[in-house]
Amino acid sequence: MSFSPEFLDEIRARVPLAEIVGKRVRLTRKGREFSGLCPFHNEKTPSFTVSEDKGFFHCFGCGQHGDVIGFVMRTEALSFPEAVEKLAGIAGLDMPSRDPRDRERSAENKTLHVLIEAAAAHFESQLRMPAGKAAMEYVRGRGLDEATIRQFRLGYAGDAEGGLRAALKRAGFEDAQIVAAGLAKQPEQEGRAPFEYFRHRLMFPIADRRGRIVAFGGRVLGDGQPKYLNSPDSELFHKGRMLYGFAQARAAAREAGDVIVVEGYMDVIALAQAGFRAAVAPLGTALTEDQIVELWRLAPEPVLCFDGDAAGQRAAARAIERALPLLKPGHSLRFVSLPAGEDPDTLVRRRGREAMAVLLKQAEPMAVALWRLEIQAKPLDTPERRADLHARLRRRVGQILDPTVREFYRRHFSAELRGAFGGGQAQAGPRSWAQRADPGPRARWSPRGPGGPAMPLFEPPGSRVARGPALEQTTELRRQQILIATLVNHPKLIEELRESLAQLTLPDRDLDNLRAEILHLSASHQDLDGGVIERHFSAKGESAVLEMVLNVQVMKHADFAQREAAPEAARSGLTHLINWFGRPQLEAQLAEAERLAAAETTESNWARADALRRSLQALNARAADLEAEG
Ligand code: UTP
Ligand code: MN
Repeated sequence: MSFSPEFLDEIRARVPLAEIVGKRVRLTRKGREFSGLCPFHNEKTPSFTVSEDKGFFHCFGCGQHGDVIGFVMRTEALSFPEAVEKLAGIAGLDMPSRDPRDRERSAENKTLHVLIEAAAAHFESQLRMPAGKAAMEYVRGRGLDEATIRQFRLGYAGDAEGGLRAALKRAGFEDAQIVAAGLAKQPEQEGRAPFEYFRHRLMFPIADRRGRIVAFGGRVLGDGQPKYLNSPDSELFHKGRMLYGFAQARAAAREAGDVIVVEGYMDVIALAQAGFRAAVAPLGTALTEDQIVELWRLAPEPVLCFDGDAAGQRAAARAIERALPLLKPGHSLRFVSLPAGEDPDTLVRRRGREAMAVLLKQAEPMAVALWRLEIQAKPLDTPERRADLHARLRRRVGQILDPTVREFYRRHFSAELRGAFGGGQAQAGPRSWAQRADPGPRARWSPRGPGGPAMPLFEPPGSRVARGPALEQTTELRRQQILIATLVNHPKLIEELRESLAQLTLPDRDLDNLRAEILHLSASHQDLDGGVIERHFSAKGESAVLEMVLNVQVMKHADFAQREAAPEAARSGLTHLINWFGRPQLEAQLAEAERLAAAETTESNWARADALRRSLQALNARAADLEAEG
């Protein structure tokens, strides 16, 4: 609804801004103004000011600016009308009466709300009746406990026709209303009674921002199509504007300053049960612009979780596409790729809460994710192809509407391009700025190509160590030993390069076993160090192979493998070796995948071949790059 300018001015005049702000920020008076630590960004010295006279707050640090309504919207995650309503209450003003059409609609909506709430209660009780036994067994079988089932108000829509309609009619509702709520369908043929929409399904109530149920998702028990049915859009339910779990996540998100975005209902619920209460999901569609804005009500940099596979990467690319024009200072998205074959639900159940926490900590900033997607998209092995990358990045940056964010993206990518391909005034200002502000993909490269082994495209500075003549002249066995030695001496790299290490097979059986066992060990140890690894093998009476690996002869061939080596050198050396052994394997896998895709043209066969092809392209581009650098 809209408010008259007079009414809004009346609110601004009556509610003292400094008092409202003062509830959240410790303010000190400076003449006619107040100042304090900005509630919208982290700071140690106050750059946030409040001018009671002008009725504005302004932060010189992050640029946030607004009046009392804006302040309440942002700090309490309220919509405009919600904030107005709240402040009108404080000001002692009655909300203006709406025009008659509004009032009528709101009366209808109220009825609809009551009806849907009654339906939710009905489904909930059905889940606990004998009829709901199979559904209850299904949810329990998926690991949900009673508290979670109650919190998310899961329910069961019965097998037999008419149960819900009968219950709602007893509560005084009519068929037409049940149809309008999307709970039943009117057959084309006249005179026929409506039939219920959800049958024999596990029911997930979908709530609006305030926690009122407005729709349902219904899942088949087990396998079957369609897996989920969702209520059609209605006066109360707009798929593209809402987020599943929003109301539950709100408080937790505010507390944590963070929100996790997943793909499915079950993911939201499983995460909540595992303690990640600030989780939401779109409703079965790609993230919309409205939903991104909605997410920013919860936290400034929501973390989006996507499958590590090609489809997941495409979804991430789509989200970036949508978000670019919306970016504003301090507001962005971050990205996490999940291990192949896992969604957050299976991840927390199979690998535990900690595994999820680790992934979240490694979330990539949007600029990093965008850079990664663009350099993986096409080969970069010729000047023309690199120029095309440059053009693509420029187009992307051009999509950003906020001038400040756009400018900083421009600088960021110029610095990345210079770092990757070299260039005239290489170490000029922007580069050092970018390095300070953002360690860039080198420092926290997510080593995961879509579906393929991890192949960082560009070697970190100092990579020459890895290509030193010493390494070039070593035997294949030596190289494998060096690889293992690097793992033992720089175990922090294992986590970082886990995926590619896991996909690798070393030609030497013993050394490959070492590789597998060290990976395994690192999965169960928080802070694995060389000592733990050595003790592990000596306890098993298997220190001999390891000793051979760690012997001085091995180290002589590669400085980077030594314990004293700089982490960047070790990382680049290790990456080099992984690529060296990984490439023939990748080529073989690609040949096989292409054969399969030609024999049987299915989407997944193509996707696999595609992902492998891209990984290989990335690898080739990298090799070309090394050559170019000499
Ligand atoms: P998923 O297939 O990933 O479902 O779809 P899920 O939530 O992980 O469910 P489980 O674990 O198999 O039970 C993600 C989301 O896409 C929408 C739903 O919102 C679902 O949560 N979806 C999926 C549909 O709307 N219809 C479908 O047929 C499938
Ligand atoms: Mn799932």
